[in-house]
Amino acid sequence: MEYPFITYKPVQFGESEMISRSKVFYDLMDQRRSVRDFSDRDVPEEIIRNIVKTAGTAPSGAHKQPWVFCVIRNKTLKSRLRALAEEEEKKNYEGRMSERWIKDLAPLGTNEKKEFIDIAPWIIVVMKKSYDQDADGTKTNNYYVNESVGIASGFLIAAIHNAGLVTLTHTPSPMNFIAKALNRPDIEKPYLLLPVGYPAEACKVPDLTRKAYDEIAIYFE
Ligand SMILES: Cc1cc2nc3c(=O)[nH]c(=O)nc-3n(C[C@H](O)[C@H](O)[C@H](O)COP(=O)(O)O)c2cc1C
Repeated sequence: MEYPFITYKPVQFGESEMISRSKVFYDLMDQRRSVRDFSDRDVPEEIIRNIVKTAGTAPSGAHKQPWVFCVIRNKTLKSRLRALAEEEEKKNYEGRMSERWIKDLAPLGTNEKKEFIDIAPWIIVVMKKSYDQDADGTKTNNYYVNESVGIASGFLIAAIHNAGLVTLTHTPSPMNFIAKALNRPDIEKPYLLLPVGYPAEACKVPDLTRKAYDEIAIYFE
């Protein structure tokens, strides 16, 4: 069977513009922080739509696009998710997490309270599909699902930041309660929960430093 191919239209710039664009993008991304203190200021749906569409441009194993983004604005549903997340996180902080894990989290100032799920105007739950079903319900395979959904989530986080909004990569573990609360089918498993909105006024974030370039890059020239 012959499959169709189309001509790729490259996005191209002169070298000095490439240097400038790569620096500008790095500077923008370097300002991204995980925010845990949100404002309730509303965000237009169109921005959320563009952000989620950007996540949907990610590459995926065999182009299976094994993701679904649940976009939540409903206040009752947000409150329910918050209550369920806090229930699980209480158990985590009161015994399910190791002492070492609690110690590693200490600089972040996190605890079982998850007000941001109520306060942020939007919650995006990223769902991953380890397998899929075609129209007649036959099981079909997905490939490199964690890698694919992880990359799409990275695009999502970058798009949120690029739009001038903030988010938190939240993993209220175990996350099965989310699929139930959202009434999603068994083939979808919650991957991340991201509140999206503006930071609260005078919002503070932990004073963290990122690894130096030499620590993250190794050249083989
Ligand atoms: C996979 C993953 C899961 C995370 N889960 C949580 C979480 O459940 N709660 C939380 O407060 N932060 C969570 N974080 C955020 C990290 O704590 C944060 O990215 C890290 O401290 C670095 O801070 P920065 O994002 O501001 O650079 C998570 C991050 C990742 C990548």
